[in-house]
Amino acid sequence: MLSIAGTLRQLGLSALAAAAALSSLSSAAAVSTSNIQVRSLEERAAAGNRLVFCHFMIGIVGDRGSASDYDGDMQRAKAAGIDAFALNIGTDDYTVTQLNYAYQSAANNGMKVFISFDFNWYHPGSDATKVGQLIAQYANQPAQLQVNGRVFASSFAGDGLDVNAMRSAAGTNVYFVPNFHPGQSSNANIDGALNWMGWDSNGNNKAPTPGANVTVAQGDASYQSWLGGKTYLAPVSPWFSTHYGPEVSYSKNFVFPGGALLFNRWQQVLQQGFPMVEIITWNDYGESHYVGPLSSKHGDDGNSKWTNDMPHDGFLDLSTPFIAAYKNGDTNVANYIQTEKVVYWYRRNLKTLNCDATDTTAGRPANNDSGNYFEGIPNGYQTMDDNVYVVTLLKSPATLSVTSGGNSQSFNAPAGANIFTVPAGLGKQSFVVNRNGQNILSGTSLMDITNVCACGIYNFNPYVGTLPAGPSDPLSGDGLTSLVSGLRVTTCQPHPSLGTNPSSPVTPPANPTSNSPPPASRTSSAPPADPTNCNGGTNAAGQSGNFAGLCSFSCSFGYCPVGPCTCTSFGPAGTPPSGDGRNGCPLAGEPDSYKGLCSYTCSHGYCPEGACQYC
Ligand SMILES: *[C@@H]1O[C@H](CO)[C@@H](O)[C@H](O)[C@H]1NC(C)=O
Ligand SMILES: *[C@@H]1O[C@H](CO)[C@@H](O)[C@H](O)[C@H]1NC(C)=O
Repeated sequence: MLSIAGTLRQLGLSALAAAAALSSLSSAAAVSTSNIQVRSLEERAAAGNRLVFCHFMIGIVGDRGSASDYDGDMQRAKAAGIDAFALNIGTDDYTVTQLNYAYQSAANNGMKVFISFDFNWYHPGSDATKVGQLIAQYANQPAQLQVNGRVFASSFAGDGLDVNAMRSAAGTNVYFVPNFHPGQSSNANIDGALNWMGWDSNGNNKAPTPGANVTVAQGDASYQSWLGGKTYLAPVSPWFSTHYGPEVSYSKNFVFPGGALLFNRWQQVLQQGFPMVEIITWNDYGESHYVGPLSSKHGDDGNSKWTNDMPHDGFLDLSTPFIAAYKNGDTNVANYIQTEKVVYWYRRNLKTLNCDATDTTAGRPANNDSGNYFEGIPNGYQTMDDNVYVVTLLKSPATLSVTSGGNSQSFNAPAGANIFTVPAGLGKQSFVVNRNGQNILSGTSLMDITNVCACGIYNFNPYVGTLPAGPSDPLSGDGLTSLVSGLRVTTCQPHPSLGTNPSSPVTPPANPTSNSPPPASRTSSAPPADPTNCNGGTNAAGQSGNFAGLCSFSCSFGYCPVGPCTCTSFGPAGTPPSGDGRNGCPLAGEPDSYKGLCSYTCSHGYCPEGACQYC
C-alpha cells in the first residue's frame, strides 16, 4: 500500500509532468483507432472486473411521468460506455414509481441499473429489512445488474447496517458494495465498498489545506488496505461546488479543488486498474459534479442559480475513450479516441471577483447543523485556480492555440489525450487546433469570462465546452423553477441564454483587454451586477435619466450593473464595439455609480459628454 501511495503522490506532485510522460507514451504507441473491440459487459460482469457505473439521483427526477422520460439518459450513458446507473434513492413517495420507470427504460435501452440506498434517509440501525425488501422487489427485473451472477446493490453511507438481515430480507445472496468507511464498519459481510471521496479534502469533508490534505489516491489506498482482496469501487468525479443559502433548508456553501481533476483521475484509474469505478455523478446538479445533460428532465432544488447556462456534456465526452481503455485493461487511452475533439472548461469569474453585495449567502445566516454552511465566497475557494483547462483528444499530433481574454498560448499537442492549462483572462475564450497549416478544429466559447456576478452570486461551477461544439443543452421547465428564490438581484430571469454557436472560425480579438468590463478586486467592492443573460436595459427606477443612454448601451452587451441600470430583455448579448481601449471615468460631481458604466462604455468607444470623460 505504501509503495502505491508513494507512486501516486509522485503522480499528483506534478500533474503536467505526469501528463507529459503519459503523452510521450501515447505518441510512441502505434495509433490505430479503427475497430478496437471493447470487452463485453457479460464477460466483465461475470468476472466482477472492470465495471463502470454512474451515480444517478432519483431524488431530483420526481417530475418524470413515464419510462420514456429516462430514455435519453440511458442512451447517452450507454453510448459513453457506462455499464449501469447506480440509482440513488431516498424515501420520497415517488421513489418506487421512478424506480419502475428507470428499470423499464434501462431494459428498453440495453442498460443495467442497481439501487444505491442513500442513508441520509434510510437508517442503518433499523432499515435492514426495508432495504432488503426493496432489493427483492427489483431483483428479477431484466435491467437489474448482476455481478458474478448475483444481484448487485450499493449505498451512500450506511455504516453499521446489518448486512445479513438485509440479505435475508432480499431472499437472495446480494452482491453488496456499500459506501461503508474503513474503520467504521466491519468488512466481514460485504463484497466490497464504494469510496465516495472523489476529491482531495482535509479529511473532514472540506477542501484540503497545506496542513490537512487527504488526496483521492490516499483514499484509494486506505480503502484497498481495509478491504483486503474484496472489491474496491473507486470514485471518478469532475468537480465539486455547492452554493445553497438560507432559501433552502439544506444550506451549504463549499468547494473541493476541481481543476484538472477529471483528466488526472482517469489517468490514475487506467494505471491502477481498479475492479470497478463509479462516476460521481450523472445529475447531482446541486454539487456541480454532473456529467449528464442539463436538458435531461428534472426538478430544481435551487441549483439552477449556478447550473443555468453551464453544460457539462464535455466531461462525459472526455471520459468516453478512458472508459473504453479501462474496460480493456489498457493503460494507454490513445487507441480509444474515435473522434478527434477538444474539451475545455473554466469558471465564468475569476476568484478575485467580489459578489458580497448581491450574493445569496453573503451576510445571510442559515441553519448550519451540517457544518457545511458558510457566508459569502464558498469555503475552500482558495484551492481553485483561475485557469482554462483544455484536453485534446487527437489521433495524430497538432498545434493547440488557446486565447483566454488577453492571454494567448500555443502548445504542441501529441496524439492521444493531453491536458493544457492557460491562465484565465477576462473576455472571450477561443481555441484552434492546427495540423499541417490547416485549422482542423476551431471555435469561440459561448461563455465569456467576466467580472459580472451572474444572478448576483458566487458561481464556482465550471462551463464545459467542446470542439466541435456539441448540441445545445439548455436547462428548461422544471429545472428552472427555483432560480429566482433567494436572489438579491431582480434582473436574473429563469431562462437559458447561451444560444447556439456551432464551431466556427475564430475571429482574432481586436483588443482583448478592451472587450471586458473593468476588473474588480476582492478588496474593493465591485458594483452589484446582474446576469450575463441580459441583452437590453435602461436606467433603474429612481435613477437619473442621465444613466439611460449608458445603461441602454452597456446592458445590450450583457453588462447591466444593478444599482444604476435595470435589465429589460434577456437573451444572447451582442458583441460590443472594440473601441480604442481608453478607460472612462465619471464627470466630476457625478455619483460613483457611474464608475463601472463609464469605464465600460468609454473603453468600447461610447463616452457621452454629459456623463463620462476619458480618464
Ligand atoms: C494536496 O496534495 C496534492 C498531492 O500532493 C497536491 O497536488 C495539492 O496541491 C495539495 N493541496 C493542498 C491544498 O495543499
Ligand atoms: C458552520 O459550521 C462549520 C463547522 O463547525 C464552521 O466552520 C462554519 O464557520 C459555520 N458557518 C457559519 C456561517 O457560522
